[in-house]
Amino acid sequence: MPREGSVLGTIGNTPLLELRNLDAGCCRLFVKLENQNPTGSIKDRIGLSMIEAAERDGHLRPGGDPPNTIIEATAGNTGLGLALVASQKGYRLILVIPDKMSQEKILHLRALGAQIHLTRSDVAKGHPEHYQDRAARLARETPGSFYVNQFDNPANPLAHEATTGPEIWAQTGQMLDAVVVGVGSGGTLTGLSRYFARVAPHVEMVLADPKGSVLIDVVNTGKIQHAAGSWLVEGIGSGVVPSICDLSRVRRAYEISDAESFYTARSLLAREGILGGASTGTLLAAALHYCREQTAPKRVVTLVPDSGNKYLTKMYNDFWMFDQGLLERPRFGNLLDLIVRRYQEGGAVTLSRDDTLMQAYRRMKLFDVSQIPVMQGEQVIGIVDESDLVMHLHTDPSRFGDPVSTAMVTDLETIEHDAPINDLLPIFQRDHVAIVAEQGRFVGLITRIDLLNYLRKQL
Ligand SMILES: Cc1ncc(COP(=O)(O)O)c(C=O)c1O
Repeated sequence: MPREGSVLGTIGNTPLLELRNLDAGCCRLFVKLENQNPTGSIKDRIGLSMIEAAERDGHLRPGGDPPNTIIEATAGNTGLGLALVASQKGYRLILVIPDKMSQEKILHLRALGAQIHLTRSDVAKGHPEHYQDRAARLARETPGSFYVNQFDNPANPLAHEATTGPEIWAQTGQMLDAVVVGVGSGGTLTGLSRYFARVAPHVEMVLADPKGSVLIDVVNTGKIQHAAGSWLVEGIGSGVVPSICDLSRVRRAYEISDAESFYTARSLLAREGILGGASTGTLLAAALHYCREQTAPKRVVTLVPDSGNKYLTKMYNDFWMFDQGLLERPRFGNLLDLIVRRYQEGGAVTLSRDDTLMQAYRRMKLFDVSQIPVMQGEQVIGIVDESDLVMHLHTDPSRFGDPVSTAMVTDLETIEHDAPINDLLPIFQRDHVAIVAEQGRFVGLITRIDLLNYLRKQL
């Protein structure tokens, strides 16, 4: 039967699934699929609850003319949740976001009608251009606006106390021993802690914290022991305890590295078919550690807080993982280690001489590369790069149909795989890429950015 009402009625009531193919020791481990919310994350719940609380408090009036303005500083999923609810209820939404955010998220937000103010991502809180400071200022300067401030908004934990907690309790048949969560604003943890403190105080709250975050210190010792580091997992971990975050019921915390988070998320997809985001890996890794440490069987729940769709080009992309030094591959101790896309492994993007310039252009865009070797059999006979295309096409775009052999450069620089790294420098100084060969056979290309990535990994 079709559901009645708007898409907002599809927020929450997400499925709970038992994992069958991962080793949870003597425990039973369940995941709550928050990635099935309409914008793909747990934050749809608080988008709805924070806007409805502001309506109840008289800060917002739906259908106003002109519409009320909602303002938030967010680098992620909360913006999408707010944008969905604002679009359905007819509010204007301004989001201030740091400029390191992914293009996909910005496009999704704009498509939902949000107005985006990009601000600097390289300044600390307290600086006027920090995204939270700028959003607070914008709210002060915009009459009749409502500043959501999820880090300080009681309707954030309330959403989880009123919906996520009761759903988990009902879906587990009221047989539950532990819940494993991460902390971004602390809304999920605080809301679930309050709910279970009331209905089932024996349920243990367990924290999954990215390595570099300070929250684990607070759980283990009561105070912050070191300055925050940096981590790649998005949405969780913190350098301070957010004001709405109540860690008092957490007795056990696990620190999870980026590499372990990404591997675990990838194995959740490979083994269970669930496409979770990066933080899913952190939560699941912590949950698996917890389960395997138990000596008596327990029933444990963790979350899939968001969808892996947003991370397909990152942690689900082997080349990105190699680039970050997060995926191990055989090391040779020579120039082969600098080649991201190896020809013998089928990774290299190549063309043949009769392919058209349109194919060359499409492959450059698809694989995000700016030069492609042109092959004849196993031999490289030319290289075509963006400027070759521009020079060949600028007077007559119909030449996109010409074969690449008419635009490729044949003045090539080949280097043996066991040459010293320093031999790359004169090649780059001549503005060429290095074609690496092993006993005369092509193995891959090395460009300046490959050398830079390699040097960064030595840090
Ligand atoms: C991507 C992501 N965002 C947010 C959260 C939790 O956020 P909060 O503490 O703000 O409820 C999580 C929790 O696991 C998460 O994975």
